[in-house]
Amino acid sequence: MNTKMNMEVQRLNVVMCMILVLASVLHVSLAQTTHTVGNGLGWLVPPGGEVAYRTWAASQTFTVGDVLVFNFTTGTHDVAEVSREAYNSCNSTSPISMSTNGPTNITLTSAGEHHFICTFTRHCDLGQRLAINVTAASSPAPAPAPEPATPPPAAAPETAPSPTVPASPPPSATPAPAPSRAAMTYIVGDSLGWTVPPGGPIAYQTWARGRSFVVGDTLVFNFTSGVHDVVEVTRAEYNSCNATTNTTVITTGPARITLTSAGEHYYICTIPQHCSFGQQLAINVTSGGSTAIPPPSSGGPTSQSPGTPPPPLSDSAASFAVAALPFTFLAVALALLCN
Ligand SMILES: *[C@@H]1O[C@H](CO)[C@@H](O)[C@H](O)[C@H]1NC(C)=O
Ligand SMILES: *[C@@H]1O[C@H](CO)[C@@H](O)[C@H](O)[C@H]1NC(C)=O
Ligand SMILES: *[C@@H]1O[C@H](CO)[C@@H](O)[C@H](O)[C@H]1NC(C)=O
Ligand SMILES: *[C@@H]1O[C@H](CO)[C@@H](O)[C@H](O)[C@H]1NC(C)=O
Ligand SMILES: *[C@@H]1O[C@H](CO)[C@@H](O)[C@H](O)[C@H]1NC(C)=O
Ligand SMILES: *[C@@H]1O[C@H](CO)[C@@H](O)[C@H](O)[C@H]1NC(C)=O
Ligand SMILES: *[C@@H]1O[C@H](CO)[C@@H](O)[C@H](O)[C@H]1NC(C)=O
Ligand SMILES: *[C@@H]1O[C@H](CO)[C@@H](O)[C@H](O)[C@H]1NC(C)=O
Repeated sequence: MNTKMNMEVQRLNVVMCMILVLASVLHVSLAQTTHTVGNGLGWLVPPGGEVAYRTWAASQTFTVGDVLVFNFTTGTHDVAEVSREAYNSCNSTSPISMSTNGPTNITLTSAGEHHFICTFTRHCDLGQRLAINVTAASSPAPAPAPEPATPPPAAAPETAPSPTVPASPPPSATPAPAPSRAAMTYIVGDSLGWTVPPGGPIAYQTWARGRSFVVGDTLVFNFTSGVHDVVEVTRAEYNSCNATTNTTVITTGPARITLTSAGEHYYICTIPQHCSFGQQLAINVTSGGSTAIPPPSSGGPTSQSPGTPPPPLSDSAASFAVAALPFTFLAVALALLCN
């Protein structure tokens, strides 16, 4: 009788176990992520050229079932899925699919490369195009870093197709420099340059985090004159994206600014909306002799401007966390029951 009951219990466990396995499999395959293309930038002709959506795509992991949200105003843009050849040549004559109403949601239904362009005249040429790699739902492997196979044809004037990083910036892992070192020249944002970063303020925060700035170093703000500018501002102005005190706005790019004093330094672009969408840089500069200071983190002066909230940083990260929670619970339950 005792053994019989044991068997009953065991059978129940097996059934429960199977239900849980099924539930967890279902859960995993149903977890879908919504990716807002370009985050707060939306779907438009990106100020920095094609690199904007390439950088954005590189920050995401696309899985079959995920949804792309192309956020644009109807009548000013559209979105067409096209072949790789059509993407490379910005040819919109025979798209795979086409949507003229913004915002448009597109569900990724197959693995592999997907290409999207705007068919408005010159928009694709100027960088309004997106190429992504989608992995099958079951594959837990992270998506390969997107990398356009062919360099764009008649590219936007300020588009740098290949990140030919100039010799100067060091790899991000240079935590504590020697007490004294030669003056360095930093290209702000490296190959991204000085632009509205597709991922929002996090871009330049991340860039600054890996670096140490010493009096005598030079910052190069690489931008196209007339498209962006740069000015050093106070912390309050940085936080509110409202530059009023410093009238020395540098409008000619690339701009070289040598750091002449220790302490916090703040830089923004004064073109409307650019700062609030993330074109802002905050750095800590140390005097020559001292060691590196720890980078700013969430506790520091954040870039949030009260008026215009910066775009969400990563939809995928958030939804992954949400998806992972019940999954962890299930895993624990499985471990307890299934043996
Ligand atoms: C789309 O863009 C509009 C205007 O820029 C903005 O108000 C809205 O929040 C955006 N929607 C999404 C999903 O990002
Ligand atoms: C665009 O694509 C169509 C069909 O795919 C092709 O017939 C046409 O020659 C292409 N145009 C250009 C300019 O490449
Ligand atoms: C598109 O996706 C967004 C985000 O998931 C959602 O809020 C919106 O309702 C969807 N729009 C349509 C037309 O499905
Ligand atoms: C997709 O991944 C393949 C293999 O890693 C790579 O060759 C290709 O360039 C990628 N395409 C895009 C659009 O990222
Ligand atoms: C600045 O950007 C342009 C175009 O994006 C690029 O060709 C050039 O190499 C960049 N210069 C530096 C110093 O990074
Ligand atoms: C004003 O901005 C310029 C660069 O645009 C910078 O060189 C200068 O130091 C700034 N002045 C003050 C008082 O912040
Ligand atoms: C920017 O600051 C100035 C002076 O502090 C103020 O008069 C103005 O209203 C501010 N503008 C915005 C958009 O906050
Ligand atoms: C500069 O360093 C101080 C002290 O470590 C820190 O509190 C502050 O947030 C940093 N500011 C920036 C802009 O990195």
